[in-house]
Amino acid sequence: MDTNKRPDTMERITTKELADKFIAEQIAQVKAQVGNKKVLLALSGGVDSSVVAALLIKAIGKQLVCVHVNHGLMRKGESEAVVELFRNQLDANLVYVDATDRFLGLLEGVCAPEEKRKIIGGEFIRVFEEEARKFDDIDFLAQGTIYPDILESDGVKAHHNVGGLPEDLQFELVEPVKLLYKDEVRVVGKALGLPEAMVDRQPFPGPGLGVRCLGAITRDRLHALREADAILREEFDICGLSKTVWQYFIAVPDMKSVGVKDDKRYEGWPAIIRAVNTKDAMTATIEEIPYEVLHKITNRITAEVDGINRVLLDLTPKPVGTIEWE
Ligand code: XMP
Repeated sequence: MDTNKRPDTMERITTKELADKFIAEQIAQVKAQVGNKKVLLALSGGVDSSVVAALLIKAIGKQLVCVHVNHGLMRKGESEAVVELFRNQLDANLVYVDATDRFLGLLEGVCAPEEKRKIIGGEFIRVFEEEARKFDDIDFLAQGTIYPDILESDGVKAHHNVGGLPEDLQFELVEPVKLLYKDEVRVVGKALGLPEAMVDRQPFPGPGLGVRCLGAITRDRLHALREADAILREEFDICGLSKTVWQYFIAVPDMKSVGVKDDKRYEGWPAIIRAVNTKDAMTATIEEIPYEVLHKITNRITAEVDGINRVLLDLTPKPVGTIEWE
């Protein structure tokens, strides 16, 4: 039997009851697979890895070792939320690695988007590998592979460690949600008691704010981007747009314009608002944001964020514009 093929008879998980049944089955299966051995998991805080973590904590408790790598390109409060939920509330075995200086050091002066992605992806594997080598008794690697990953990669991702860990560091995989679609993962996450803010999260790219701090990343501009993005998210929560808009964020280009603040010349970066709707991220339309919301966001960002003196709205659908700027 091909374990990477979703059986035609498998019911779509849409209710708490179906999710609870799935969770009970997976707990039994994981226990049978793992026994009393240890399992490693890269926990980004995204929906898929968070749901896998919560499921495995239920199944095997402290036998699960979660590693959260903070690459310094997370959104405001994100790494803190992962530590608070998994270590403090769910009592998980969580290794927190602040690798900000390593990532930002390697990215210094690098402008090309694909080069930035390569550096961030490659360094992520190296940091994770270093943490994995600190344990000599881990046999399994858990992954938040979901069914679209398998469909898109012809099963390749499900057979190999994703991201290219070295040959001498290979694990048997534990992939409890690999036959689920994204909406089912969210239902299972809610049934596991994960907070809605985590389960219904908008997509966030692996390279994080690294591809939104346009051009060569500097710490001051990255900081401004993170603060402006936090204000956008807060205001979208307040007016309810966070419930309907698929993806929304700020990008900050590497250019300044002249402004005036407190009667003095004030050169600053623009913050660009992008808010899009899509089904599959292949095409995207622009969300209409009420002007009063735009004015409030503009007032807050320009008043509260050091270094930003203008707020712009990106009205470009995909195509022609990709969702991310880089
Ligand atoms: P684009 O910019 O290609 O984005 O229209 C489509 C969707 O993919 C996300 N995205 C990424 N996700 N690593 C990721 O994990 C990446 O390098 C990456 N680039 C884009 C983007 O946020 C959007 O949801």
